[in-house]
Amino acid sequence: MIPEAFHTFYQNQHAGRWTGLCDALMQPSVRCARWNAFAGQLPGERSNDSTLMDGLPGCHRLDEEASYEERQEGLQCYYRMDPASLLPAQALEVQSGDRVLDMCAAPGGKSLILAEALSEQGHLTANEWSRARKEKLRSVLNAYLPDEMMSRIRISGHDASKWGLYEPDTYDRILLDAPCSSERHVLHQPAELEKWKPSRSKLLAQRQYALLCSALLACKPGGRVVYSTCSVSSLENDENIRKLIKKKGDTFQCLTDFARAIGEKTEFGWQILPDKYPGWGPMYWVALEKRNA
Ligand SMILES: C[S@@+](CC[C@H](N)C(=O)[O-])C[C@H]1O[C@@H](n2cnc3c(N)ncnc32)[C@H](O)[C@@H]1O
Repeated sequence: MIPEAFHTFYQNQHAGRWTGLCDALMQPSVRCARWNAFAGQLPGERSNDSTLMDGLPGCHRLDEEASYEERQEGLQCYYRMDPASLLPAQALEVQSGDRVLDMCAAPGGKSLILAEALSEQGHLTANEWSRARKEKLRSVLNAYLPDEMMSRIRISGHDASKWGLYEPDTYDRILLDAPCSSERHVLHQPAELEKWKPSRSKLLAQRQYALLCSALLACKPGGRVVYSTCSVSSLENDENIRKLIKKKGDTFQCLTDFARAIGEKTEFGWQILPDKYPGWGPMYWVALEKRNA
């Protein structure tokens, strides 16, 4: 049973779209199997099969009949994830040689994509504040990445909202995949739904804003920050960016000129909502470029 206050809160934001969106969030989520490029070439019979997903390199629609568990060169070959989760990591456009920070990294699906994009040069710091989740992150990275890549990865456990104070102007690329309201998760957990209050999203938006300011500080001038959430609350998405523009708009610009085949444009960023992409997301992301001083 969904509390009336929950409906009211989201209806105020999504108006006539909310009923269909809420129904879509109640449906089971879709997972894809993403090939691990460090495990070698995608096997021939899979590389041109019809389960490969357009616009998502190496991603197969998950076929429960197929085996995705094989290992090659000691590495896991497939990582199961929400296909929408690839898009913020792709929007960071990591180049070989970059210095990259993944501020909120566990369990690690997006860190794997960033590590692949680094290829043969560059460094990744994968940070996760929760100790238990940091250990999960470590085990995922170890299972999918070769030793040479691991030697260029630092796994840390700091509060990322303070990061910018300690390492200002340091990273070429920063992913801030922020802790958020995760309404899909809440709707599927009756105990969580019972505890839900409108103040939850407001509080999370404040924490996300502190993380955003920290990411901007830690980014090199000319570098890029991608901010993402899996929330459908506008407070945690475009409204947080509106506040950042109001307070710090002279220090960055929103990058809007991507030719994206997948996703729906919002005022400042992009979103995948499951009423348009059944079983996917939700996912919101925005790319910010820090201005040269
Ligand atoms: C949305 S999840 C990240 C998912 C991850 N990027 C992935 O693709 O697998 C957000 C993570 O941020 C962590 N977190 C929350 N507050 C944090 C903070 N202040 N600093 C660093 N990590 C934090 C949470 O424990 C959680 O694991």
